[in-house]
Amino acid sequence: MIFVTGGAGFIGSNFVLDWLAGGGEPVLNLDKLTYAGNLANLASLQGDARHRFVQGDIGDTALLERLLAEHRPRAVVNFAAESHVDRSIHGPGEFIQTNVVGTFRLLEAVRQYWQALPATEKEAFRLLHVSTDEVYGTLAPDAPAFTEQHVVEPNSPYSASKAASDHLVRAWHHTYGLPVLTTNCSNNYGPYHFPEKLIPLMIVNALAGKPLPVYGDGMQIRDWLYVGDHCGAIRRVLQAGRVGETYNIGGWNEMPNIEIVRTVCALLDELRPRADGQPYASQIAYVQDRPGHDRRYAIDARKIERELGWRPAETFATGIRKTVQWYLDHPDWVAQVQSGAYRDWVATQYGAAAARA
Ligand code: NAD
Ligand code: DAU
Repeated sequence: MIFVTGGAGFIGSNFVLDWLAGGGEPVLNLDKLTYAGNLANLASLQGDARHRFVQGDIGDTALLERLLAEHRPRAVVNFAAESHVDRSIHGPGEFIQTNVVGTFRLLEAVRQYWQALPATEKEAFRLLHVSTDEVYGTLAPDAPAFTEQHVVEPNSPYSASKAASDHLVRAWHHTYGLPVLTTNCSNNYGPYHFPEKLIPLMIVNALAGKPLPVYGDGMQIRDWLYVGDHCGAIRRVLQAGRVGETYNIGGWNEMPNIEIVRTVCALLDELRPRADGQPYASQIAYVQDRPGHDRRYAIDARKIERELGWRPAETFATGIRKTVQWYLDHPDWVAQVQSGAYRDWVATQYGAAAARA
């Protein structure tokens, strides 16, 4: 079996669903179920003996030791993290706790387990750490995209905590020989994306008739990758990645935020037009910028293509259409995640009026 952490979050739950749909081995799924973890994402696996869910913290050494000894996984895939940049600005403590201390505890527990494995299992074992392109910092408009050799220059508490975790993973390989793989991926989008992040926030706000808050001038650039493609890349790295290496994963799709928002609006105009016939883009509202906002990310994903033959299957046009349609088809999921805690977050980030609107 494989041991997945953070498998009730956005990417983790997509990964578990894809993995089992593709006939992969059973999954042990450890997730703390923070505000971002949601068992409804995994509802289709109810009664499926191949999925074993445990609520718990990657920082809980005793729990990790027990689970590893009991289930004897052949691999660990670490998705568990605090993942939202804006939340890291309001409260960085949890980011240090989970992303740095939690990753350290996980590495230590996995190291003890791995060291005691019989030779053949020890040789085959892998720990794959899922990280982000944000560790590289920001790019000038004409600078080449991030390669795996790019200097690590994180700018937010979130990206600094992820960079710290990447360094720990690297050191556990270099010092102890732990067979690790690290992936640094660009912005994901797709089903089960929590509506604190740009694309799902725009979809749910648009449909609710609320303002669409665009930070600053909206000309910040991100590279966008459909989540199913990210899951495929992780499977490929786990299968054939070279131990100790890092692999950048991206969609070859750099776009300014305002263009993303206008694309979402245009799709909604087509698929669910407003009752008054007005375009959803009329709801766009420029708001105060994110402090320390990185201007541009771009991923050079040639290494994973050259070494492992992976390229994204979706274009942005196909992926974003599927995504908008998924949100239109799943109003119950959207209603469920917009709990009291979600409204508290909206009030903190966008003001009390936005939470009431
Ligand atoms: P998410 O916030 O949707 O999910 C994180 C999951 O981790 C949640 O289910 C949460 O309950 C769980 N979790 C948090 N703290 C935990 C702890 N201490 N112990 C166990 N579980 C815990 O995040 P996501 O967008 O799915 O991101 C998953 C991973 O991928 C993260 O490591 C993130 O840094 C990385 N990443 C995300 C993106 C993106 O665009 N979303 C891009 C590149 C990399
Ligand atoms: O690059 C990978 C990273 O992508 C991941 O490591 C993070 O976990 C993930 O959250 C994401 O980080 P971003 O900060 O890029 O994502 P977010 O969706 O929060 O914002 C995307 C862009 O949109 C960013 O430039 C900020 C802007 N934005 C965001 C929100 C929530 C707005 O303009 N308005 C908003 O309301």
